[in-house]
Amino acid sequence: MLNRKIRIAVFASGGGTNLQAILDAQEAGKIHSGEVCLVIVNRESAYAAERAKKAGIKTVIITKKKTGSQEAFEAAILKELEKEKIELIVLAGFMNVLSEAFIRHYEKRMLNIHPSLLPSFGGQGFYGLLVHEKALERGVKVTGATVHYVNELVDGGEIIMQKAVDVKDGDTPEELQLRVMHEAEWIIYPEAVEKVCAEMTAKEEQPCRKKE
Ligand code: GRF
Repeated sequence: MLNRKIRIAVFASGGGTNLQAILDAQEAGKIHSGEVCLVIVNRESAYAAERAKKAGIKTVIITKKKTGSQEAFEAAILKELEKEKIELIVLAGFMNVLSEAFIRHYEKRMLNIHPSLLPSFGGQGFYGLLVHEKALERGVKVTGATVHYVNELVDGGEIIMQKAVDVKDGDTPEELQLRVMHEAEWIIYPEAVEKVCAEMTAKEEQPCRKKE
C-alpha cells in the first residue's frame, strides 16, 4: 500500500519535550511516513499527557501502581497498542524497564533516545541528570545523544542516529543537559522516527518475488 503511515505510540513519564519535538516535526511535515496515534504515560503527573491532549492525540495513563504488577502493567499497555494497531513504539523519557518478553514482541519496532554518545555513559542506572554529571566528571569534551533500537540490554540496542554536542568549560550538569536536548535530542529523535518509518514502509513496497 503506497503512502501508508506507520502507526506510532509514544511512551513518556515526564515533561515530554522529546514527545513535543516529534509532534512539532509531524505538524511541520518533517515526519510524514508515520503518525503518532497514541501516547501512553505511566505517571499521573506527567506533563507529556497535557502536550499529547493539546495536540489532539489519544492519551492513556497506565500506572504500575494501579495495575499492580509489571506483568499486569504491560498487559494493559499491550491491550491499548493492539486496539490502536500500533506498529512502532517510541520511548521518550519513559521511566520503566520493560520485560524481555515485551521487548521481544516489539523487536526492531521500539526506539529509545539516550542523552549521551552511547556506549559511553549508558546502561542500568544512567538516566536523567546523572548521565551529564558522569560525563562532566570524566572530563569529556564532546557528548551528545543517541537514538537506538531497544533490546534486552539497557541502552544496548543497535544505534540508529547520533549527534555530538560540545561540552563547555564550567558547564553545570543542568546546562549540559539543556544543550544536549536543544542541539541533539530534539533534532535527531524526529529525524530517526521518520527514517525508521520510511524504512518500514519501503520494505512493504518491495515485491516478495520477481516478475517473470
Ligand atoms: C531525555 O533527556 C531523554 O534523553 C531521556 O529522558 C529525558 C526525557 O525528557 N531518555 P522529556 O520527557 O522528553 O522532556
